[in-house]
Amino acid sequence: MAQTPVKVTVTGAAGQIGYALLFRIASGQLLGADVPVKLSLLEIPQAVKAAEGTAMELDDCAFPLLSGIEITDDPNVAFDGANVALLVGAMPRKAGMERGDLLEANGGIFGPQGKAINDHAADDIRVLVVGNPANTNALIAQQHAPDVPAERFTAMTRLDHNRAISQLAAKLQVPVTEIKKMTIWGNHSATQYPDLFHAEVGGKIAAELVDDAWLRDTFIPTVAKRGAAIIEARGASSAASAANAAIDHVFDWVNGTEWTSAAIPSDGSYGVPEGLISSFPVASRNGRWEIIQGLEIDAFSRERIDASVRELEEEREAVRSLGLI
Ligand code: NAD
Ligand code: LMR
Repeated sequence: MAQTPVKVTVTGAAGQIGYALLFRIASGQLLGADVPVKLSLLEIPQAVKAAEGTAMELDDCAFPLLSGIEITDDPNVAFDGANVALLVGAMPRKAGMERGDLLEANGGIFGPQGKAINDHAADDIRVLVVGNPANTNALIAQQHAPDVPAERFTAMTRLDHNRAISQLAAKLQVPVTEIKKMTIWGNHSATQYPDLFHAEVGGKIAAELVDDAWLRDTFIPTVAKRGAAIIEARGASSAASAANAAIDHVFDWVNGTEWTSAAIPSDGSYGVPEGLISSFPVASRNGRWEIIQGLEIDAFSRERIDASVRELEEEREAVRSLGLI
């Protein structure tokens, strides 16, 4: 193995998303089939033993690309030299809870982790926050990492993006590969806006292929509330599909894509206040996310984007008043 391994730090490594994620990272699906990886697993002390068990299983796979595994409860060790950080560890939402309830519980985790990233990560660190409320947790971590370029902190809306593609493909009875230019705007929450006015199916605008009532009353709420529906059905929040989306997000960030959805720090595009970590239509070029510009936003979309962005502003205010940023 000539190439230096890429250090990938996964927090909450002993959790259910961690279990669905680590084996795929080690097999080369996160970065590419020729990129060796070194895994660093961060857990709370009570869960370190479970993480050790997962590491034993990783060993037992004899993955050719896996060059080492480290397990720790110290963020300063876990993020030391990290090139990719997947911040998964958080308290999962339980039935009946909204993400706002989680702000205080989870805010305390992401400040110290942001600082540890600031102080110890590699210069090319890329951070994906999965733990909810993901957008605002990413903002907290970023605010504690003033020496890291702000754009390196992102939050995951790729699962929502993939859900939107799947729902639309099922409705139109086309393969998912026919669907292009899907966009999720705003927060990873029930206010998110999955946009069919720019999505294309076989070159036609998706919104023109479905009736308005389905778009408004079925498609949007089904995608936006899919996380809650999974919790209701499984008795636990989505795990394998969330891990899959995290893999998609980082793979595309590193290897490039012409169009997907990701929550990245706003530069003020589309009227989203600068600095909020909000989902946009994005491309990735030369290892950097770029917001796709020039889309026309009609009144229907405007109202929904604004509502989700308002929620992000409220979350930002809430964590400010809790002293978390
Ligand atoms: P889980 O409870 O199975 O695992 C969470 C793990 O995090 C546990 O092992 C716990 O010990 C660990 N942990 C807690 N605090 C930690 C800390 N300070 N440092 C390191 N590890 C810590 O939960 P899960 O099902 O794996 O979900 C993880 C998070 O992902 C939840 O917040 C969930 O809501 C979120 N999620 C996000 C999306 C998304 O699309 N953005 C989708 C699904 C789930
Ligand atoms: C999901 O979208 O599946 C999760 O974010 C749900 C949740 O709140 O954990």
